[in-house]
Amino acid sequence: MSVKIIGTGSALPQKIVTNDDLAQMVETSDEWIRERTGIGSRHISTGETVVSLAAEACERALENAGKNPADVQLLLVATAAPETGIPCAACQVQSILGAGSAVAFDLNAACAGFLFALHTACAYIEAGIYENALIAGGEVLSKIVDWTDRSTCVLFGDGAGAVLVQRSEQPGILGFVQHSDGTKGEVLQCHSRQLSNPYISLPFDSHFVKMDGREVFAFAVRQVPACIREVLERNSLSPADVDLYVLHQANRRIVEGIARRLSVEEDRFPMNLDRVGNMSSAAIPVLLDELNREGRLRQGMTLVLSGFGAGLTYGACVLRW
Ligand code: COA
Repeated sequence: MSVKIIGTGSALPQKIVTNDDLAQMVETSDEWIRERTGIGSRHISTGETVVSLAAEACERALENAGKNPADVQLLLVATAAPETGIPCAACQVQSILGAGSAVAFDLNAACAGFLFALHTACAYIEAGIYENALIAGGEVLSKIVDWTDRSTCVLFGDGAGAVLVQRSEQPGILGFVQHSDGTKGEVLQCHSRQLSNPYISLPFDSHFVKMDGREVFAFAVRQVPACIREVLERNSLSPADVDLYVLHQANRRIVEGIARRLSVEEDRFPMNLDRVGNMSSAAIPVLLDELNREGRLRQGMTLVLSGFGAGLTYGACVLRW
């Protein structure tokens, strides 16, 4: 018994913001952003929400798999930037889809969120609790980014992606590894509301993303290749056996550094970050959906998915398409 991805979908906000647009807001340039990150433009919400984007991505994944919302048994939304703390985004997506039989809840592991949610869904299915699961990664990071901070506002974008997974007799997801390192939490953070009640009121702290970019960069190029090797070794595979690496899209130089450390040609590392920026938990499922719709995923291919981000959290998954 295995768990197989049987449908993919994605949704992006209509508005496209170029590096030149950002150069009108903060002291930056298209040249600097492209050279340091590989990003050329990103989609930014002018009204779309995590819920509306995730629902659209889920509808497309269901359509791609030829399934109805009523068939869905588990619905997970990975997000670090939901519009509401309660109810969770997944319950709102459930309502829009009409997936009345599904159990729905959110999961936050920042940019590794989609991967962690996929692993959670697989564990439920392998335990025999559910037959299928719809998993979305959705972010509207533009509402938590400081648009006056040039070192972060140029990096992120909004969007959502989704996959439908199902129990299968065919080989599908072969294995996962997941890691967390809470001791490094301060390198990438965004505060929520401060404690404030009749007994205590803490001073205001910014509710925007703060990041030590160099630390995050160093962490990603060191830990991601190590955890990819770990999941491959557990499945008696080597980096050369992998047809495509679908990595979190944070920065072109990070992806290139990972490819170098794995001694794998860069053309096995598809990228879309030049058009969409870093969409946190939406990055992997959006890229996967684009590859699927472009016909680049053939049955039997070996794929690695790998995500990393705030927490710190990171992990990898190897699968047969
Ligand atoms: N435009 C122009 N200059 C900028 C800039 C921008 N958008 N952002 C920062 N700079 C400046 C800095 O102020 C600094 O100037 P100084 O030398 O006068 O102080 C200079 O560029 C170098 O900054 P530095 O932070 O050392 O640049 P870098 O080469 O490390 O690149 C990042 C910065 C953010 C692109 C890079 O560290 C990175 O991509 N890190 C990973 C971030 C990430 O992916 N986070 C999400 C993970 S899920």
